[in-house]
Amino acid sequence: MPVLPPVGRLRWTDVPAPLRARLETALGSPVTDAVTPAGGFGHQLAAALTLADGRRFFVKAAPTDDPLTAANLHEGAVLASLPPGAPAPELVGIHQVADWTAVVIAHLDGPHPDLSSDSSDPGQIWALLDKLVSSPAPPPYTAAVASTPSGAAGLHGWAILLANPPRDLEPRVRHRLHELAELEAVWPGLAHGDLIVHGDLRADNMVRDHDRGVTFVDWAHATTGPACIDAVSLAPQLVLAGHPPQDIAHLLDEHPATATDLLASTAFLTALTGHWHRNARQPAPPGAPGLRAYQHRAAAAGLTLLGPRLNWNIG
Ligand SMILES: Nc1ncnc2c1ncn2[C@@H]1O[C@H](COP(=O)(O)OP(=O)(O)OP(=O)(O)O)[C@@H](O)[C@H]1O
Ligand SMILES: [Mg+2]
Repeated sequence: MPVLPPVGRLRWTDVPAPLRARLETALGSPVTDAVTPAGGFGHQLAAALTLADGRRFFVKAAPTDDPLTAANLHEGAVLASLPPGAPAPELVGIHQVADWTAVVIAHLDGPHPDLSSDSSDPGQIWALLDKLVSSPAPPPYTAAVASTPSGAAGLHGWAILLANPPRDLEPRVRHRLHELAELEAVWPGLAHGDLIVHGDLRADNMVRDHDRGVTFVDWAHATTGPACIDAVSLAPQLVLAGHPPQDIAHLLDEHPATATDLLASTAFLTALTGHWHRNARQPAPPGAPGLRAYQHRAAAAGLTLLGPRLNWNIG
């Protein structure tokens, strides 16, 4: 296994030559350019390849014994099983050569969506989400995710912080650690459902493709579950993009995906915020610069939504 890059991602030239040759043969043209897009925190190769004939593909690759390979294979199986019209790129192929695994995906062309309130992108994203959960997941999708435990169902953090409260935890949170730990403990029992769940909705896991409009990428955490998971996950991202927290808290109170099961959506928001609070305080993992700083910001955004939900008198 190669040494992980101290910062940033593996590059196309880090991929063993036999796998690069296999991809060029399979895609039918030599690779003339490989660009690593901004976004994400992973250390694997995630690059847009341009071929000599002008076509482009997106490829994710890592050593086969790297845990990210299991995630990439899961994503490949998900992409191959999503229903027609789902907001996702198509799977092109999977290649395993020289103890590395590459998943090739249709290339999307465009920036990440703008989640700020000046943009029409948030409205489009809510519409995509509403459509995604408008009917149960089709059987091929359910089969594709069945053997992978739901990451969303396992999110937690408050119980661990309660056992050893960090000194930098703000007093209003410290005083409520018992309440938060109790709420997050309820979440796994409510995390079940038969709907498609992307499981990691952030702006950098979406591309506003010039032809298709906003499209969700990075389906590595996809699972089945209740509608509240993606809706609640999106909410702190909107706060991070500058929406007033009270507007987003109100939206969560009203939106069908979250309003129909208030306990589940509150429990999930609690678990997600606890996950961020706990992980933000862990040592930084290699090859993932910026992850802890992001988790600190996300943890604060989660709290701004949780306060009103739990009727905290927050100043
Ligand atoms: N099909 C695609 N076409 C074009 N660009 C893409 C495509 N899929 C992803 N990207 C871009 O590449 C970046 C990294 O891809 P992705 O999020 O799938 O990788 P990752 O390593 O799993 O990231 P993370 O660290 O979020 O887990 C995305 O933020 C996005 O900008
Ligand atoms: Mg990503």
